[in-house]
Amino acid sequence: MYHRLRSLLFKLSPERAHQVAEWGARTLQTVAPSALASSFAFADAALHQSLFGLEFRNPVGLAAGFDKNATMPPFWEGVGMGFVEIGSVTARPAQGNPRPRAFRLPADEALINRMGLNNQGADRVARRLERYRTSVDIPLGVNIAKTPDDAILGAGARRDFRQSYERLAPLADYVVLNISCPNTEDGKTFEEPDALAALLEELAPLRTGPAAQPLLLKLAPPLNAKIAFDSRIEELVAIAAAHDIAGFVATNTAPDRQGLSTDAATLEAIGRGGLSGAPLQQRANTLLRYLYRLTEGTVPLIGVGGVNSPEAALDKIESGASLVQCYTGLVYHGPGLVRDLKQGLVALMHQKGYGTLHEARGAQV
Ligand SMILES: Cc1cc2nc3c(=O)[nH]c(=O)nc-3n(C[C@H](O)[C@H](O)[C@H](O)COP(=O)(O)O)c2cc1C
Repeated sequence: MYHRLRSLLFKLSPERAHQVAEWGARTLQTVAPSALASSFAFADAALHQSLFGLEFRNPVGLAAGFDKNATMPPFWEGVGMGFVEIGSVTARPAQGNPRPRAFRLPADEALINRMGLNNQGADRVARRLERYRTSVDIPLGVNIAKTPDDAILGAGARRDFRQSYERLAPLADYVVLNISCPNTEDGKTFEEPDALAALLEELAPLRTGPAAQPLLLKLAPPLNAKIAFDSRIEELVAIAAAHDIAGFVATNTAPDRQGLSTDAATLEAIGRGGLSGAPLQQRANTLLRYLYRLTEGTVPLIGVGGVNSPEAALDKIESGASLVQCYTGLVYHGPGLVRDLKQGLVALMHQKGYGTLHEARGAQV
């Protein structure tokens, strides 16, 4: 069914297709919520987990960027997602970069995007979350990032994050800091250990009472396979441990073009942007395994990058992920992917003799 819809959607630009899909999702969640739930129903107790104080019916979630403004949470619950990550949301609304800013690479089952954090801003998203917080019964995470304005740097960037945290954390089940965009005076990112420590110190006084949600960090993919000796990641993990970070999301999109079969002229014409989808799968898993080893399996990890099959999802779990997320896989396979991932995971776990996700977690590390 999605196959036919996809051939129509792929006649449109990726951004236009996304708008059409969003319109369809919002219509279905309003007019036919029970039909939606019954078409995509699949549940199995083996997929259930409790992590950082939250209950996850299954480990398949929506990656940040697809539902930036929290317009579709009931749809994601309806298609059987175990959790949703809203955002990235920024303190102020943002237009993002000029179009075109999203591109398909069908030969690689990948996307390149330079959306530039277009979103409606913390206030509007907070008002929607107020509504969905009680009506949607799966964990809703919120991913926050710095408002994309070159004038907001250093202490200003930390204040910007602080504003988003203050407004959104009390309405979220968990919060992710998207720290891989340039945010500091010298153009470095908050993945720079000193910058991260300063940011976490800024947020520390806010992390009490109703705003004391589990806080996670979303990291960029490793640039090469020698991640096992990356002292910067070791520093980040140590800083995270000192600041009560609940987990890591690995990974964001990649700035380079490694491992693609799309021809060079096409890539040249597209220009800069973050690569997502199948080519990211193994690199993201390398970071997962490294994080799992560094944290000795004590910290939940969310594996994201190229989840497009049950095998790819189990690969992430065996590499140390407790939960997985997808974005590009949904573009190529449609919302039925969520059910296929869950069904396939249960079958693969059975074949491999894993009774629970916990048993499968880290088995390849
Ligand atoms: C069009 C697009 C927009 C995205 N926007 C965001 C974003 O706003 N914040 C964020 O943390 N990640 C964003 N991502 C990254 C995804 O959350 C995910 O980390 C990445 O795409 C790898 O997963 P995938 O291979 O399943 O797509 C975006 C990805 C795409 C394709």
